[in-house]
Formats: sequence, structure tokens, C-alpha cells
Amino acid sequence: MRRRDFITTVAASAGSAYAAMKALDLLEQPATAQSQRPFQLQRRGGRKKVVILGAGLAGMTSAYELGKIGYDCIILEARDRAGGRCWTLRGGDKFTDIDGQTETVGFDQGLYFNPGPARIPQHHVTLDYCKELGVELEVFTNLNRQQYYYNENVGALSSKKIRAREAITDMRGYISELLAKAVNQDALNAELSGTDKEKLVEFLRTYGGLNPDLFYTGSSRRGYAVPQGAADSPGTVADPYDLSALIELGFAGYEASEWGYDQQMTMLQPVGGMDRIAKAMESKVNQLITFSAEVTEIRKTPNGVRIVYVDKRNGQRQQVLGEYCICTIPLSVLRTISSDFAPDMQAAISSVDYAITGKSGLQFNRRFWEDDEDIFGGITSTNQPITQVWYPSSGYLSSKGVMLGYYNFGTNASNVGNLPSAERLTLALDQGSKIHPQYRSHFENGVSLFWPKIPYSLGGWASYTTTVREQYYPRLNEPDGNIYLAGEHLSYLTGWMAGAFESARLVTSKINALSA
Ligand code: ALA
Repeated sequence: MRRRDFITTVAASAGSAYAAMKALDLLEQPATAQSQRPFQLQRRGGRKKVVILGAGLAGMTSAYELGKIGYDCIILEARDRAGGRCWTLRGGDKFTDIDGQTETVGFDQGLYFNPGPARIPQHHVTLDYCKELGVELEVFTNLNRQQYYYNENVGALSSKKIRAREAITDMRGYISELLAKAVNQDALNAELSGTDKEKLVEFLRTYGGLNPDLFYTGSSRRGYAVPQGAADSPGTVADPYDLSALIELGFAGYEASEWGYDQQMTMLQPVGGMDRIAKAMESKVNQLITFSAEVTEIRKTPNGVRIVYVDKRNGQRQQVLGEYCICTIPLSVLRTISSDFAPDMQAAISSVDYAITGKSGLQFNRRFWEDDEDIFGGITSTNQPITQVWYPSSGYLSSKGVMLGYYNFGTNASNVGNLPSAERLTLALDQGSKIHPQYRSHFENGVSLFWPKIPYSLGGWASYTTTVREQYYPRLNEPDGNIYLAGEHLSYLTGWMAGAFESARLVTSKINALSA
């Protein structure tokens, strides 16, 4: 039987075509598209000139990897800083959005806020670069069972601060109780022997914190209403919430996002701000970067590329020639630049949407989330437009701190992001103070941004629909003449720094493979 027939037969017989393809190695990606760890290009031919557009992580990593094997790279960067979205805001920093609205950051010295990437999963290649570049890391607590779910208009638990540990313990208890009873009443279709039944029920009793009669009636795992203490203070465990109320609260949605592979409980962050990664990479390639160079034309030549840019410091038009171009400009910006891209490439560039998202950072003069509520890191979720607030994973027990006041998406993000910045902060404070009334007396200053209005980014990250991924992504991954696209948008790790790093590795490998 031919492979294709075999797969069709398996699929038609309701078997798993995926499993069959996997068994036959048909799902393997080309070796170069997968993460190669460790990664090292091998020098192949003569010195080639590569013009790299953008000194974000993808652009700088491309120059860094090609530079290791003798390529002659230059990087054109429109901003007056490197790092792109890998960016940290500190007191005194300023930026202006495309509406001309300028934010000046008022944080005290030592405090910072990451408006772009702010957490690193433990399996991402980003950590390989942190190691190689000597970037010091610390734990970023992404999920903390001390954090709250606070939702309005969701039934019995409306406008209540529900600790994640209470909700998780109660749901686990109820599900275990239901399943244990079903097993005992032979209500499952599964064939279970007598011993298997006993083992499963015993497992569920322990797993769900059930009483000997297999009822879930609450558990100290969810915490104490009256805390334990010395002498005659054994603590009081509160009654569990109702199962239906927890479902109505939206518990399933929280579980779904919190169990995402990349959304781990323990993540990592550079000590002192995410831009430590960009700065470390910049230190390897800084002599190659031309800042304030806004690309205005991307042209193909018979043997390579011609890039025209405007030097924003003096308005002068300049051009550079190269054999190859690695273009890391986000598609949201690239689609506005004059170019010689072939029509199918141009169509692909124009078809990918970008995430509509915004964030704010709020400085408080007291760490009330630690002092009053025993929360050290983590994220409280809410169905208000602010969507979430984050507690800092550094500086514990110090005097001040910067919390993330909102991080939202889609309509919530555009409704908030389209407000003048002072109103964004008012909104963040109004909604956040429903969860933490201490906001009112301890707020000092804040900053906010809306990524679709940040020049040279014009969006959060590439946001592919399945159709756009199928229809256009393959084209974007192929060079157009000697122009190669790179960046998080050229990966399945969109919205992660790892996407930029992986893409830079892939594109530099492809260019190097062509060199004689
Ligand atoms: N990777 C981004 C985040 O973690 C989108 O929020």
C-alpha cells in the first residue's frame, strides 16, 4: 500500500490520520525549521554583505549569528534605540505614539515596567541566548494560587475576590466527588475490574480532598477564613463555593488559559528588566547599527538588494546595497513601505493582522498586595476591560512597586487604548480599585501604551487566523529575490521573543546554505 493510500484508509476508518502520518514521519518539518539547540552556523564561502532591517531581537540575532562566521552585516534601525518590542520603561523615559501623544515615565529609580515581552517560558530558546550573553535571570511567577478571579455579573460570585486556590480546590473536589460516585454506581461505560474501581475511587478521594463518604465539603487546601495560629487558634476552613457558581464565574476559561503550554506557573525574567536581553545582544552588534534610519524603499537589484532610508536626524536620503536583505520590519509597517515585492508576497504581507493590545504600569508607594493580601507575584484576572493586573516578581517586601494595571486585547484594548493617556490611567485605577481599594491611597504615577499606535510596531504581534496561516504564511517564509523576512511573525511562536530568535536562526541558515 502506498503511504497516501494507507493514510486515506486510516482516516476513512475513523482511525487517526495524524497518528499514521506521525508513524510514517510525514509530519517532520525540514530540519532547519526546528529549533537547533545548540546552534552554530558553519562558515561556507566568502564574505557576503547582508543589509538587515530592524535592530529588534530578530535583526540583531541575525547579525550576531552571521557575524560569527564572517558575514558583513549592517543593521538599519528607525528608532534611536535597539530592541524593538523587547523594551523596558524606567523613570525619565519618553515615547510618543502615532497620534503625537507623549508619555513621560515618572517611576522612582530602580523601578521599571516591561511594556512588551514580560515573561519567558522554561522551554524557549530565549534562555539559550540569555546564557550565551550572560543575562541574569530570576523567577517570574506567572500563576500564583494566591491570585484572584474577580468578575462582575457572573451570578453568586459576582464582584467577589475569589482566590485561585479556593476555586481550584473546590472544582477538583466536586469533579472528584461526581466521578467517584459514578464509578461506585457503575455509571461509567468503562470496564473497570473491582480492584480498578477501588483504586480509582481511592485516588479520587485523595485527589479531590473528599471525606470518607466521598463528599466534597471543603478542604484546608483552599485556605482558612480564620487563620491558624499559636495556642488555641486551629484556624477555620470556610465552606466551599457552589459548583454552579464556579462554573458561572468562568473557571473553565481561566483553567484553559492558565494551562497553555507557554503559560507556565514558574516562568523567568531578566533581573532589572526585559531589555537586558536586547542590551546584551546590542553589545555584540552595536557597531553594525545605524540608528534613526527609517527605511522608505526596499528594492531588488540584479545581484541583490538596494535599500533607501531617511536619516531622521537630518532628513537626508541615503541608500545601501547588499547581496542579501533580512527584513524584520513588522508586517503591519512593512505593508506601508515602497518595495519591489512580487504581487503574491505583497498580498501575503498585507493579509496578516496584528494583535490589538495595550498595557499600563502603575507605581504605588506601598506594596499592599504583599502587606495586606499575601500575594507575591502572579496575575489577578477580571472580566472588566482592564482584563488583568500583575504583581511584580521582584523587589519583594521593599517599599514601593510597579504593578501592571492592565493588559488587554481586542475590543477592550482598543476601547481603552483610544482614550487619552490620563483617562486610561483613571480607568485602570477605577477598575483596579474594585479589587484592591488600596489603589486610591497609594498610587503615585503610571504609564500606558497601546501597541497599534506605537510607531514602527503598529500592533502587538502577528495574529494569524488558520486561513491566513494556510494561505499566506508559506509565501512569507520564502525569499523574494534575495530578500528574506524574519521576526516573530515568521514563526509559530508569535508574540514570543523565541519566535524572533528561532526565525533569525532559520533565515541565517538559509542564506548561509546558499553561499558557495
Ligand atoms: N507572549 C505574550 C504574553 O505572554 C503574548 O502575554
